Amino acid sequence: MPNYEKIVSEFKTPLYLFDTDVLSKRVAYLNGRFSDNTALVYAVKANTFIPREIESDVARFEICSKGEFDICNKLGIDRGKMVISGVHKDRPSIEEMISLYDDVLKYTVESIGQYELLKELSAKYGRTLHLLIRLTSGNQFGVNEDEFRRIIKEHPANMIIDGIEYFSGTQKHSLKKIARETEKLYAFVTEVERECGITLREIEYGPGAPVFYFQDETFDEDEYFDELNRQLSVFSDKKVYIELGRSIAASCGTYFTSVVDMKTNKNGNFVILDGGINHLVYYGQTMAMRVPYFEVYPERRDDTETYTLYGSLCTVNDIIVKSIDVRKLKKGDVFAFKNVGAYSATEGISLFLSRDLPKIVLYNRDKGAIMIRDVVKTSDINYPDY
Ligand SMILES: Cc1ncc(COP(=O)(O)O)c(C=O)c1O
Repeated sequence: MPNYEKIVSEFKTPLYLFDTDVLSKRVAYLNGRFSDNTALVYAVKANTFIPREIESDVARFEICSKGEFDICNKLGIDRGKMVISGVHKDRPSIEEMISLYDDVLKYTVESIGQYELLKELSAKYGRTLHLLIRLTSGNQFGVNEDEFRRIIKEHPANMIIDGIEYFSGTQKHSLKKIARETEKLYAFVTEVERECGITLREIEYGPGAPVFYFQDETFDEDEYFDELNRQLSVFSDKKVYIELGRSIAASCGTYFTSVVDMKTNKNGNFVILDGGINHLVYYGQTMAMRVPYFEVYPERRDDTETYTLYGSLCTVNDIIVKSIDVRKLKKGDVFAFKNVGAYSATEGISLFLSRDLPKIVLYNRDKGAIMIRDVVKTSDINYPDY
């Protein structure tokens, strides 16, 4: 366990800390829940700062934009582990990938337009492409069942269909829903294989495994993954890839923010923090009513008081938690909000009010704390440069 107070005094708040010991344990736990024919895919969108830390323990990285590709490529991630995915595959980016890089990148096909683009560019550069066709769940992602069949029937020999990708949403805790999905997927795969005389060797499935962020929730995670694994056992003759973002990354992250001001009026005790909803996003938080896991530093024995925590954005919406009971606060006290390793650092309204983006620190027991991103001044981004 890192010495939070030491880290905060060195790097200052607001600050993200990604603990790679926690991350490694988490990935080992997840790997351990699945059968031998099943491997993990990390959805890079969840946290772009950790791919190198988990490269040896996941089979693949799901990359959804040229930006995510550039990050992983610059980190030296094995391109043989990259699946180029995403609803918008723009021509310049895909042309660069197909022309510059070896044949090992795998691509998802999410529309007939994407299929045509990949076909044209693979022919132009004489490349063999490995593809996963993404089946839609009824939203803007993926192709419909007829388009899926059409691609299989007409694809040229240099486009190898390795399998199917299916993802229908995040934070799905209903095992009944997942059972319905896997049954539907199995029926579709079996039917397509029979009808088209093809074997879909790979099933890449994103179950949207949930993370429980709030103190009022309980969840038996072992049971959840064991049941998911059992449901996927119908694909025992295939290679199954479980595509996860949140469930891999969330637990490694802590966000530190300090009390910078306090006031009391007829509506209660107001605490102003140096962070805010520009940095801290908890999926499922509603009207700041739910209490995430957090700690307050330094530890101090004192009476309890009720506070509402506000961020530094000049908007009434910037409430982190309403009416929580904590020991009496003072300016300079630090809140450590837990489970912020997925999405939080990128999903907030981080350009609003031209507040700086926080530092990011990686920590592990052997190497200690290393800053991997300095403060970013959004005033440079929000500046009218003329
Ligand atoms: C195709 C795909 N796979 C995987 C994920 C990761 O989802 P989660 O973070 O819920 O595991 C997403 C998230 O949007 C996605 O779009």
